Amino acid sequence: MKRCLSGIQPSGQLTLGNYIGAIRQFVQLQDEYEMFIFIANMHAITVAQDPKKLKANTKDLVALYLAFGLDPSKVNLFVQSDVVQHAELGWVLNCHTYMGELNRMTQFKDKTAKKETNISAGLYTYPSLMAADILLYDADVVPVGVDQKQHVELTRDLAQRFNNLYGETFVVPEPVTAKIGAKVMSLQNPEKKMSKSDENPKACIYLLDEPKVARKKIMSAVTDSIGIVQYDLENQPGVSNLLTIQSSLSGESIDELVAKFEGKGYGDFKGYVGDTVEAFLSDLQEKYRAILQSGEIESVLEQGAKNAGNIAFKKMRKVKKKLGFQLF
Ligand code: TYM
Repeated sequence: MKRCLSGIQPSGQLTLGNYIGAIRQFVQLQDEYEMFIFIANMHAITVAQDPKKLKANTKDLVALYLAFGLDPSKVNLFVQSDVVQHAELGWVLNCHTYMGELNRMTQFKDKTAKKETNISAGLYTYPSLMAADILLYDADVVPVGVDQKQHVELTRDLAQRFNNLYGETFVVPEPVTAKIGAKVMSLQNPEKKMSKSDENPKACIYLLDEPKVARKKIMSAVTDSIGIVQYDLENQPGVSNLLTIQSSLSGESIDELVAKFEGKGYGDFKGYVGDTVEAFLSDLQEKYRAILQSGEIESVLEQGAKNAGNIAFKKMRKVKKKLGFQLF
């Protein structure tokens, strides 16, 4: 069985973008692949975190993974810091990553554009750690949103570089992005990605938003003055984004939606999308609360870390041998 791996940072509340671009794919792929899904808490500390909040966000993320239907009997679900080999391989790959490559990472450039001081070295070398996450498990496919694709491309280069230097060691992974929804946009500025770190809470649907509040955010989403419900990324990015959200959540195709709203105004259309989002969040949150109360999170993570740790240990032993670290 081929392997699939991905992770999400527990930094702040998860958004509808995280679901549509990433988690939705994890759920779809779990029947076809051997799955490794983790909580990237070591990536989260590349920027300042409050330990109490980090802990709560980590638990929330596991509960959400389960509420979305990730099945722990099929998926190895674990916390990154529970498998020490991530840090170990991260260092090794750091030593094989060029500064020129890291300088080209658009996410690093975006994240540091407004900040001139106290940028951590970890934020800079974050892609090498991400490569370690992926290569430790010989992942064949890595489902991600568009914003993470460049990091997976770098991972491919690092795998090939290491294999060329030391002989076949790592599988070269493929990034997989959703056909629609690989980049869900901000509701207030549809030229920008929907991001959990957006300062304007109206720009973003959080998965744990009060469902009625989420509906209101859809109703006040920025659109345009054209007045026709159609998919046109260039001239109608706001409406196109709402079409993407609706289609991703309900399974209706964009064409079906466009036909349904022919001759109707944006008010009707937004009301329809708002109702879908509200119902979707109500259902999700009910499951999420039940999971938090069930007490199953701890045992799921323990088992996940054990399974992942066994594989990571073997891979790291091989890497150390190749590097000349193992003397006997
Ligand atoms: P993170 O935590 O920023 O985001 C998690 C996933 O959600 C996707 N995503 C989106 N997709 C569509 N539209 C959006 N607006 C949107 N916002 C976020 C992201 O592309 C991502 O797939 N570095 C990673 C975590 C990570 C990882 C890994 C992923 C660490 N190691 C190994 C894959 C493999 C990150 O910060 O994602």
